[in-house]
This record gives sequence, C-alpha cells and structure tokens, in this order.
Amino acid sequence: MLRYRLNLKTELFFGKNQIENLPKILQKNNFSKILLVYGKNSIKKNGIYDALLNIFKENNIYFEELSGIEPNPKLTSVKKGAKICKEKNIEFILAVGGGSVIDASKAIAASRYYSGNPWDFFEKKATIKKALPIGVILTLSATGSEMNAGMVITNEKTGEKLDWGSTKLIPKFAILDPSYTFFVSKKQTAAGIADIMSHVFEQYFSFPNEAFLQDRFSEAILKTCIHFGKIAINNPNDEIARENIMQAATMALNGLIGAGKQGDWATHFIEHEISALNDMTHGEGLAILTPNWMKKVLDEQTIEKFVEYGKNVWNLKGTSKEIAEKSIKKTLN
Ligand code: NZQ
Ligand code: ZN
Repeated sequence: MLRYRLNLKTELFFGKNQIENLPKILQKNNFSKILLVYGKNSIKKNGIYDALLNIFKENNIYFEELSGIEPNPKLTSVKKGAKICKEKNIEFILAVGGGSVIDASKAIAASRYYSGNPWDFFEKKATIKKALPIGVILTLSATGSEMNAGMVITNEKTGEKLDWGSTKLIPKFAILDPSYTFFVSKKQTAAGIADIMSHVFEQYFSFPNEAFLQDRFSEAILKTCIHFGKIAINNPNDEIARENIMQAATMALNGLIGAGKQGDWATHFIEHEISALNDMTHGEGLAILTPNWMKKVLDEQTIEKFVEYGKNVWNLKGTSKEIAEKSIKKTLN
C-alpha cells in the first residue's frame, strides 16, 4: 500500500435541523464578519435563506452576501467574492449550496490574501499561503467538496475548467441536513449519484490493489448509491434514502477510500474538459463517460478488479470474462 496522510478535519453536523447549531459553531470559532455565498434561488425557495437571516439577526451577526454562483462556477464570481472580502474585511465564508457554491467559496477564501489573479492558483503559478476559514451548509449530495481540500473553477475567457486544492481550504464544519435535498430535481439527484459513484470508481480501480479495507468501504458506498439512488429518484422525500446518499457523497471524496492508492481520475479530467466547453452538468458527463472508460480499460491486467467489483457490488456469477463484462453493463443501466 502507498504511504498516506489523511486530514479529516471537517466537523460534521448530520441530520434534521442541525442548522440550529450554527450560532454556537460561529461563536465557538469567533467567526463574526461573514460572507454568505449561495447560488441562484434554491435556498430562497426551500427556506434556508430565511432561516439564516433569522439566525444572523437574533445573534447580531454581521454579514455580506454573494449570490448567483453558477453551476460550474466561474472565475468572475470568484473575483467578485474576493473583492467583497478585501473591502469589507470578511473573516469567515459560509457556503450554502452544492459543489459549485462550495468550490467558489474555497477559491474566494484563497484569493482573500492574494493580490494577483486567482487563476494563478489553478495554473500553478502561485501557492495558497493563507486562506479564510470556510463552513458549509450542504444542499445537494454529489461532489464531497464539503469535506475535502479540492475546488474546480471555470475560466470563461480561456474556456478552461481546472482543479486545485489545499488543506487550508478544507471546511471547518459542514451541516448535512438531508431534508434540504428533498427539493433537488430528479435529474440533478441522478447526476449527483453518478458523480458519487464515479468518485468511488476513480479510487477503487487504481493501483496498487492492496488497500483491502478501503475497497470494502468503496463497495459499501457503491451499494448505497445503487440501492437508495432509485428510491430517492422515485420518491424525493424519502428521508432514509436522502440520508444514506448524503453520507455516501461525503465519504466518497474525503480522502478515506483513496488512502494508500494512486487514484485514476482520467474520467474526471475528460469530463472537466467537456463541461468547460458546453456547461454540462458534471454528473451527467460522468454518467456518459464512465461505462465507456470501463470498456476501454478492461484487459488482462485489470480483469480481476472488475471481477471483484462484479461479485461484491452486483452479486454476479459466471466466468471472469462474463462477470467483468456484465458488471460494466450493470453500471451503464
Ligand atoms: O443555484 P441554485 O439555485 O442553488 O441551484 C442549484 C444548481 O442549479 C441546484 N441546487 C442545489 N441545491 C439544491 C438545488 N436545487 C434544488 N434544491 C436544492 N437543495 O443544483 C444545481 C447544481 O448545483 P451544483 O452546485 O453545480 O452541483 P454539484 O454539487 O454537482 O457541483 C458541481 C460542481 O462541482 C465540481 C464540478 O466540476 C462542478 O463544477 N466538482 C467539485 C469537486 C470537489 N470540489 O471536490 C469534485 C467533483 O468531482 C466535481 O468536479
Ligand atoms: Zn466528480
């Protein structure tokens, strides 16, 4: 197994109404001047925005707002956020949304103490020396950004979508209330599940194949997505399904299942190129690419891993060739 460092510093507040802990969390960490970052209108429709305004008012918390973060967040939004942070001396960023809002918040946090163009980080021309602390209220189960160091930003001028990260950007806390995801559309729910499963595949199907424990965690996440994914799509208000999917999303990309492994990420890099050009939903792109990537990499060297996957995740039986091929068909369907 490869040597690894694992930093799981995000404090998770999981379950219904965990937002009620927000004042205590902010007080404990001395976070008083806040930038509230969110997307277009989902948090206004589902009541989170009003709940936050009440909390801020009752606890006398100063805040500024940055709304309109787009799916596949753009560099322009990052620059806008960094400007507010500098001008208003913001001390803390509260990201309320899915991966796009969280990623934009991370980039803003890193840009607060940088005088150059934030794109420099993504082109690896600058390192992140200091960043504002971030907290997350998650509204969509997909990326795992709520508990990891990564961020993906699109430069609309150059047409590039690049990722970068730093442990300084790992959120201090994440409020995971699965009932917020009742409002996520069927299409976006399915895309989120495809993203979670892809995160697992990128780590599960990678060398060296020696991290037995991590791969069993991976299989559990995949089985959770397969079982509860259908339930959540057919019945968006199914609490148990939404709970399990939310946990799966966070655990799939917080470093745990990839520890001791190289990680592949080819499918993700290809998808980022595609969504940079046509603004496609990340999970949709992955759902198209993943089975094709599997067909391409299935060979004598990889077949045993596909057999492991087919047997442990899909309960398939037959010859190695049959199990491997069927496992790809099952993934596609
Ligand atoms: O803007 P609003 O109105 O909030 O609507 C959003 C958005 O249109 C909506 N939504 C979010 N929560 C909702 C909701 N609608 C109804 N009810 C709710 N509770 O969903 C739409 C998509 O949101 P977005 O944040 O873009 O989705 P996702 O979480 O899938 O994030 C995708 C982005 O994350 C990047 C992707 O490349 C993409 O840019 N990734 C980030 C990663 C990371 N930081 O670790 C890893 C991933 O592999 C991925 O690359
Ligand atoms: Zn992804």
